[in-house]
Amino acid sequence: MSVRNVSLEERVDGGPLPVPETGRLALHGGEPAVTAPEPHFRWPLITDATRQAVLRQLDEAVSLNDRSGVVARLEQRLEAEFGLPHALLFNTGTSAIFAMFVGAGLGPGDEVLCPGYTFFASNSPLFFTGATPVLVDCDSTGNMDPRKARELVTERTRAVVVTHVWGYPCDMDPLVELCRERGLLLLEDISHAYGATYKGRPVGTFGDAAVLSLQAHKTLTGGEGGVLLTRDDELFYRALALGHYTRRCMLEIPEEHPLHDYAVTGLGLKLRIHPLAAAMAEQQLDTMPAVLAGRRRCAGILCRELEAIPGIELPPVPEHASPSWYGLIFHLDRELFRRGLGGEVLAALTAEGCSAIDHPKITAPVNRFPLFREPGRVHRGYGSLPERELAGAEDFFARAWKLPVWHREEDDGLVGQYLDAIRKVMHHFA
Ligand SMILES: Cc1ncc(COP(=O)(O)O)c(C=O)c1O
Repeated sequence: MSVRNVSLEERVDGGPLPVPETGRLALHGGEPAVTAPEPHFRWPLITDATRQAVLRQLDEAVSLNDRSGVVARLEQRLEAEFGLPHALLFNTGTSAIFAMFVGAGLGPGDEVLCPGYTFFASNSPLFFTGATPVLVDCDSTGNMDPRKARELVTERTRAVVVTHVWGYPCDMDPLVELCRERGLLLLEDISHAYGATYKGRPVGTFGDAAVLSLQAHKTLTGGEGGVLLTRDDELFYRALALGHYTRRCMLEIPEEHPLHDYAVTGLGLKLRIHPLAAAMAEQQLDTMPAVLAGRRRCAGILCRELEAIPGIELPPVPEHASPSWYGLIFHLDRELFRRGLGGEVLAALTAEGCSAIDHPKITAPVNRFPLFREPGRVHRGYGSLPERELAGAEDFFARAWKLPVWHREEDDGLVGQYLDAIRKVMHHFA
């Protein structure tokens, strides 16, 4: 979607981008800053290679009841990439999270520290285990604040769940330390963070298990799908029994293991990935190095430019962390927010043509949803959960806008137009 001749990087390398001729806001009848045709961001990347991979799979197999074919190949590639002994595919990330909780043996009476700000499915499958989520507030990156987590540990706490939200790695050192010290399981939701690292190590390898959603918005995607990653054999066998009954259980749970008696029926559910989804994800895996490098480059430019715009704040990139740039969150500064200008600024950006900027509404403080306030109305054994103030999550959420992070240099012109639009609007309001 090239809309300018001069590359954004050339402009940036030649010094800061020029302040645009601000002109009249499009909201007030001026010319919109973004003129590129819509849609401005398309995902997933469906190419001829994707089509061929899915077509090949149609002829190869459309149902796999053991670890063979595309399921075996994809699981093995992910195991090698993360350096873990088990990668297990599921039909969705939510199913894989459920399997992670069941695999971890969580049940009634257990408390689980969960992110207060996340996409709700990082936590919601817990309600099928009987365990109680205890919501922990976030720090200025949107991720679980390790100090607040520590304050909420009781003798009933069994596990800590973290999401590396929007692809920003959590501050893992203090969380790992807390879990070691108190004997807690550490479970990671890396659905936003494929490709992110903390101190050079991929997120998803810090805890006892991790889950990656392969849903269509995600960086690595099969359209739908999920992956459970773990180094823990026991957790793996239980997760296998949960969602992969009969042949996989018969072949992969050792005969002497007590769960082998249940191999035919498993625990009663079937949550397998569709081979066509696995074929798509396998093909997408080939594109990941270029996509991640391209997003890093684009995010570098966006962050550098956005930081210089009055009225805008960026969440700090944690020290030693390399985000995956699943999305780029920027905040309206507190002064403008206090003046109640959030809605007007967003309306002005929309009028400038920034249709790819949005205010995330579902990735939110999860206690906004009835499921996390009154689970007892829909899940037996739960009453109401104690009200917990999530001031950090509310602040992060209320002021947040999200930009997609493009990965192709041919989108630099569009990126430049978005930056021009934001500069123009903020110049007006700040
Ligand atoms: C952080 C996070 N966790 C879990 C999920 C659930 O994954 P799925 O949609 O594959 O069930 C999603 C999004 O879809 C997500 O964004």
